[in-house]
Amino acid sequence: MKNRVPLVAGNWKMFKTCPEAVESARQLVQRISDATGVEVMIAPPFTALAPVSDALNESNISLGAQNLFWEKEGAYTGEISPVMLVSAGCRYVIIGHSERRQYFGENDGTVNKKIKAALDASLTPILCIGESENERESDKTFSVLDKQIKNGLKDLVLKDLELMILAYEPVWAIGTGKTATSDQAQEVHQFLRSLLKKYFGTTFSQLIRILYGGSVKPDNISELMAMPDVDGALVGGASLDPDTFSKIVHHIGSSL
Ligand code: PGA
Repeated sequence: MKNRVPLVAGNWKMFKTCPEAVESARQLVQRISDATGVEVMIAPPFTALAPVSDALNESNISLGAQNLFWEKEGAYTGEISPVMLVSAGCRYVIIGHSERRQYFGENDGTVNKKIKAALDASLTPILCIGESENERESDKTFSVLDKQIKNGLKDLVLKDLELMILAYEPVWAIGTGKTATSDQAQEVHQFLRSLLKKYFGTTFSQLIRILYGGSVKPDNISELMAMPDVDGALVGGASLDPDTFSKIVHHIGSSL
């Protein structure tokens, strides 16, 4: 029996206009109003955050953003600050997603600044880490993840990290339909917990939630959740349809 409350987070990526996002959020509110024992978060694009926040009002679904910039304000054309996210109703923020690292030049250094800025604003950061297919095939998975954790969390101390959530997302499993097997996910999650124990101590390593992400669907979530170190999921494609996403939420709730 795990003592960590599972979290299922929907990353909508660059999908849905404002009206589409609001409509999806409304449908989701209806479909999962009865879900218990599981926390749910959705991360729409920036433009839809405020209207979706209104649609989620009083529901059991929280709002998250997909990214932030680390400065509080200033001449940074096109960027969004942590306090702006809070004012739009966000409680969570996804940081260091592999698509940000791959297409927008993010690295462990920028991720580290973003994690600090999120924590400073009392946003819950979901730090995404994961190895590429090449790295896995050349047996570098553990060393890559160690580096991402060490550098991504550089200079942070235990008391800063209380809110933090980790998401293991093998890059080869994102949007590809290739999910890690539950054994592969468990092996890595256990390794990550042991790393966090080494860097931040036993209590923290037992409390932190580690989500799995990469082609999560209604038909593979129960098997993943049965693993002792998997505490929920970061869901991309399957979070776009309220019906499919609510099935994942209900499977998690019923697997407790
Ligand atoms: P996917 O995306 O579920 O579409 O594989 C997961 C993610 O990118 O967070």
